[in-house]
Amino acid sequence: MKTVINKEYNGTPVRVYNNQHEASIAVAQHIADLIKSKKAVGEKAVLGLATGATPVEVYNELIRMHKEEGLSFQNVVTFNLDEYYPMEPTAKQSYVAFMRQHLFDHVDIAEEHVHIPDGSIAEEDVPAYCEAYEQKITNYGGLDLQLLGIGRTGHVGFNEPGSTPDSLTRLVKLNEVTRTDAAAGFEGIANVPTHAITMGVGTIAKAKKIILMAWGENKADIVQKALESDITTEIPATYLQEFDGVEMVLDKGAATKLKF
Ligand code: PGA
Repeated sequence: MKTVINKEYNGTPVRVYNNQHEASIAVAQHIADLIKSKKAVGEKAVLGLATGATPVEVYNELIRMHKEEGLSFQNVVTFNLDEYYPMEPTAKQSYVAFMRQHLFDHVDIAEEHVHIPDGSIAEEDVPAYCEAYEQKITNYGGLDLQLLGIGRTGHVGFNEPGSTPDSLTRLVKLNEVTRTDAAAGFEGIANVPTHAITMGVGTIAKAKKIILMAWGENKADIVQKALESDITTEIPATYLQEFDGVEMVLDKGAATKLKF
């Protein structure tokens, strides 16, 4: 798929595609190439995955590639960014359910290679659990690729305003803007969990490559801030300006506020 714009913007490579569909296909192709190149040398591809509306078409395309082109996920290990807390993995709003529905149930990934923060563990066990989550990523040699969406607060994962650049996987309080945006899926804001377990900004920073995706004009303001604002804890996505291996993939709508 052809980019409309492919340029650095304040030091971050930005690729703009005609629409979300073309952009998603390009990201899926990148992931497929990574999986195949790792397979060719007998290694695992370690993917950091995101939930939300943004990556759905990427996952659709990966499923298509699996079904129609024989792309295998047998050498793929995944770590999801986050999960609501508290949250039963069997609940329909859980990110476990989301990932099964949108990817894992449709490809040949091994159950033991899938990692999603467990929103059902006791609160006193959370710190040790989060440390173990970090350690597992390290044991696999780190994330080869981290996919990110961006929330209206500028969060990446559930690293809300106030998150520090060295933060690791931990329990966090959700911003009210984020809870409002999630309300429809929970039949009202009162049912949206107040907390989440999320990989930290520092966890994401260690990924060898990071692709932040954003679609539509309602993301244009926060995309502009992420790329142009001074680096600030008030907009955690601004931390990405300093990370290595970051790329932003946008559709035309999400790029409308950028001055190329
Ligand atoms: P969305 O959420 O993909 O549903 O827009 C992105 C985010 O909150 O990180």
